[in-house]
Amino acid sequence: MDNNIIIPKHIGIIMDGNGRWAKKRMLPRNMGHKKGAEVFQDITRYCNELGLESVTFYAFSTENWKRPVEEVNGIMSLLKEYLIKAFDYEKENNRVVFLGDKSAFSGELLELMLDIEEKTKDRKGMTLNIALNYGARNEIVHATKAIAQMVKNGEIAVEDINEELISNNLYTKGQPDPDFILRPSGEKRISNFLLWQIAYSEFVYMDVLWPDFTRKDLDAAIIEFNKRNRRFGGV
Ligand code: IPE
Ligand code: IPE
Ligand code: MG
Repeated sequence: MDNNIIIPKHIGIIMDGNGRWAKKRMLPRNMGHKKGAEVFQDITRYCNELGLESVTFYAFSTENWKRPVEEVNGIMSLLKEYLIKAFDYEKENNRVVFLGDKSAFSGELLELMLDIEEKTKDRKGMTLNIALNYGARNEIVHATKAIAQMVKNGEIAVEDINEELISNNLYTKGQPDPDFILRPSGEKRISNFLLWQIAYSEFVYMDVLWPDFTRKDLDAAIIEFNKRNRRFGGV
């Protein structure tokens, strides 16, 4: 990448198009998810090489449970497989955080998630957020309940509720908001991803399907990001 290019601090990626990729090849949808998981791993490494502070991947939404049970089970077993062996968490310096409501998970998968978070929590490298059973509205409800409880317990007054307090009660607490959101697959919508955090994010939509997404596509997106004039409401 050109030296003059500014690398965003935090990119959010909606990994979309796995099903269409499989369909085009007359393969079962879960083969698309498998290829998508490989791309996820490679793009994570590339984000590390580029020196990002954080990257957030949207892997499974609160709405994705609506899919056929075989597909959901396939995604969950891919996740487990991936978390067990495909990623060398000992070697990488990433701090891994799972964004979303973990109460939907149990057994081996939940243990793995908690174990990975615990093992990587003091790492100084890139923060790798994986949004699993994540929905921004669910996140806001979760934060609202936590804040209401604090008021009820007398820990804070209603007047103490401000933007910072809300941010600090989201799954992304303590993290910078994403500079830009990338969605491959041609869809131009946000699908319940990070609604609070994207107040001033730039958006890049790309026609490539996620399983075909390459490092060059990420370069192209970052170059596009560099053309944007971010004003944050100023002049
Ligand atoms: C994204 O790909 C992966 C998940 C939502 C889990 P899709 O499965 O949504 O792929 P399309 O949109 O059907 O092509
Ligand atoms: C968004 O993709 C969720 C993830 C990529 C995990 P979807 O494929 O679920 O979104 P819609 O249904 O097209 O809005
Ligand atoms: Mg989709």
